[in-house]
Amino acid sequence: MKIVSIIGFLCLGAAWAKFQMRVERRQFSQPPIEPQERFALRRFQLTSQAQHQHVADFRDFAYFGNITVGTPPQTFLVVLDTGSANVWVPDASCGKHELFSACSRKKRYNSAISTTYAQDGRKFRINYGTGSASGYFGNDTLCFSDTTLCVPSQTFGQATNLAPFFARQDIDGILGLGFTELAVNRAPPPFINAVNQGLVDEPIFTVYLEHHGLRRYPTGGVFTYGGQDEENCGPVVTWVPLTKASYWQFHLQGIGIKSADEHNQGWEVISDTGTSFIGGPSSIIQSLARKYGASYDFSTDSYVVPCAKINEMPTIKMLINGETLEFHPSNIIARSSYEECDLTLFDLYSPAFSPTWILGDPFIRQYCNIHDVGNKRLGLALSKQK
Ligand SMILES: *[C@@H]1O[C@H](CO)[C@@H](O)[C@H](O)[C@H]1NC(C)=O
Ligand SMILES: *[C@@H]1O[C@H](CO)[C@@H](O)[C@H](O)[C@H]1NC(C)=O
Repeated sequence: MKIVSIIGFLCLGAAWAKFQMRVERRQFSQPPIEPQERFALRRFQLTSQAQHQHVADFRDFAYFGNITVGTPPQTFLVVLDTGSANVWVPDASCGKHELFSACSRKKRYNSAISTTYAQDGRKFRINYGTGSASGYFGNDTLCFSDTTLCVPSQTFGQATNLAPFFARQDIDGILGLGFTELAVNRAPPPFINAVNQGLVDEPIFTVYLEHHGLRRYPTGGVFTYGGQDEENCGPVVTWVPLTKASYWQFHLQGIGIKSADEHNQGWEVISDTGTSFIGGPSSIIQSLARKYGASYDFSTDSYVVPCAKINEMPTIKMLINGETLEFHPSNIIARSSYEECDLTLFDLYSPAFSPTWILGDPFIRQYCNIHDVGNKRLGLALSKQK
């Protein structure tokens, strides 16, 4: 379960400054945990106080990779999260004088043994849907593990306090891949910083995520920094202009099952690796779920379908930038057990959150996302995984 293999530095002709990182996929198979304690990073408190938090609280997948901070390198397992824009890891002082701390079983960063550390001292606090991380900022060299991409002078959070939610997760910290505008204190996130420092050939990173159902599989996908990923992704079908460069936010024109414009009022949406499912307005989600014959399971707060029927199920169609994109059941339906499968849709109650859909991992499993920081656009390319 803990294995992540990583392909190192790729030396391919012109695309020399391109770095690929294999990530691992986690399935949350822990015995019963409260639905609201499941993996759910999205934080709507940033824009709204005390909203309903039915956000991606499901037993599903998340994609993790290692980074190192400091010289010599200290390794941390993090969520590579395109839906946030700060990087933080637990600090050595976190939980030091407490009997029970969310930090106690995590790797902790020790600035005293890093020769490249620079103090910053400003405080930070980031609220996720399920709790917060807080502490202070520091600067150090950050590397994407097993690639040679290292970002000197990266501002990162040294978390001295973590909400209990984090205690139950296998990750040490979070690495945000959104834009600086989304970052607390406007600290440029690592990839943006790498672009600013001229460390990558192209200001592009590509995310390819795999689906494996219940199978144990050592890797879960590949993050490619500095270019596209021709090995795992087909040609770009469409370059979608961002409507706002903060989240990876764009316009979804329509969605449906018979056709892509069954529901066609148009919405602002974000693509987000840190959300396990696809969330949208209740009425539309319910209508789609009904067409799948899904039933709502109150105990897990999710829509379920019989696994045996997956192959007969229809695709979901989305109209984006004038193109109809199809999402196959293999990417939309998650195998959480042998009989009951999750239809990976959830009602997103977010009156104060302006994007009305979150297109999480199922969206990206079907279409590689090519994040073009320079041109503020998102390329969608059919994943080569069948
Ligand atoms: C990630 O870090 C952990 C702990 O250092 C290690 O066990 C695991 O193999 C690492 N994975 C990779 C791909 O480096
Ligand atoms: C930390 O790094 C940022 C650039 O990433 C720089 O502007 C800032 O001055 C640095 N702070 C310290 C204390 O070195």
